Amino acid sequence: MDDIGVFEAIYNQRQFTRYKPDAVPLHDIKKILDAATKAPSGGNKQPWHFIAITNRDLIEKIGGLYRDLWLGAMGATAPADESPAYRSARYLANHMPEVPAMILVCADHTKGGQPYTVGAPIERGRYASSVWLAIQNMFLAAQSLGLGTRITTTHLRDEQKVKDWLGIPDHVETLCLTPLGYPKGNFGPTDRIPSEDVTSFNRFGQKAVNC
Ligand SMILES: Cc1cc2nc3c(=O)[nH]c(=O)nc-3n(C[C@H](O)[C@H](O)[C@H](O)COP(=O)(O)O)c2cc1C
Repeated sequence: MDDIGVFEAIYNQRQFTRYKPDAVPLHDIKKILDAATKAPSGGNKQPWHFIAITNRDLIEKIGGLYRDLWLGAMGATAPADESPAYRSARYLANHMPEVPAMILVCADHTKGGQPYTVGAPIERGRYASSVWLAIQNMFLAAQSLGLGTRITTTHLRDEQKVKDWLGIPDHVETLCLTPLGYPKGNFGPTDRIPSEDVTSFNRFGQKAVNC
């Protein structure tokens, strides 16, 4: 099922928190990352770098850090009125050490369009806009192979630890960490604000084309 239509993919692109334990085939990981690298970027500099994490010990270590950071920030016990979005994020936090694979998406500041001297401090976020499009490509490619993903950024609360564990040099910034695996749920429609509510024509707030 790796050639679903673009609109079908976009309209049913859910972010998964529940994954089956089945391993993700290496050729699918490579295919997904190959699709990611077809995205546009500023000056075509392609400052992305992807780390596929398939080693069980590393997944447990990074997943455990993620869990502790998420629960530390959001509270170890769910409030009675926790929203569905946070309830599912909490589920993922508690189960991150068990996901079959992870992809850590990075931006390499030596590959961007701005001059950079190795060793100088990096300006966080400088190349993020050149990498997010690759992330969406990666998600759509995964979906077409029946694989679930979810953007997460909670590891950034203790990013250096992850960088040390994975040998990531100072000039490489991490942007997001996604689990990758066969989802327990199904792809399907998402809960989004109607496009008309966030669209204007010719002038901010103008809802009709001709006025
Ligand atoms: C920039 C960004 C950061 C996010 N960080 C986290 C995160 O740290 N943990 C998490 O569980 N979900 C995270 N999410 C996922 C969102 O919560 C999720 O996309 C949203 O709830 C919609 O889910 P849905 O696509 O299944 O409707 C993040 C999403 C974005 C775009």
